[in-house]
Amino acid sequence: EVSSMPPLQTTLALIKPDAYPAHKNHIANKLKQCKLTILNEKELHMTLGMAQEFYREHEGKPFFEDLTTWMSSAPIYAMVLEGPSGVKAWRNLAGPTNSETARETAPWSIRAKFGTDGSTNAVHGSDSPESAEREINIIFNINTDSQVATTKPDTAV
Ligand code: TYD
Ligand code: MG
Repeated sequence: EVSSMPPLQTTLALIKPDAYPAHKNHIANKLKQCKLTILNEKELHMTLGMAQEFYREHEGKPFFEDLTTWMSSAPIYAMVLEGPSGVKAWRNLAGPTNSETARETAPWSIRAKFGTDGSTNAVHGSDSPESAEREINIIFNINTDSQVATTKPDTAV
């Protein structure tokens, strides 16, 4: 029988400051259930400049400053994920952008469980293979001079 498995894709997941470190283990367990494997992972604390580059598609929008300030305000957890239709698989597991919407339409999703609203929503997921490549480069291939020192969380994660 010919395999009907969709092609493997790589994507970037971030656990944002509202969900890291508290919900990291829960999220990692969910990944396994969705056939997503972690190829690379690390904690980091983005600089404001990194956050602005990461979210440059949203430059000029009313939420850009709050978003980039928040994302650079505390440590986050980054994971390169791989799985069948990985980009879509991770975004489906993450749920709709707005956590309030997510609780109505995708109550099993990570944003439904751990996010708050349309700005504070627990996780990030790349929206295409091209975005994934760009974002993974920013997060995992960066000039170390532009990354501030990270601190280890004091709870076991
Ligand atoms: P976006 O890329 O539209 O959503 P997603 O994270 O689902 O790809 O927006 C990036 C982030 O910006 C989003 O996760 C939360 C924040 N955001 C706001 O704060 N207000 C908004 O109106 C939107 C659309 C996004
Ligand atoms: Mg997006």
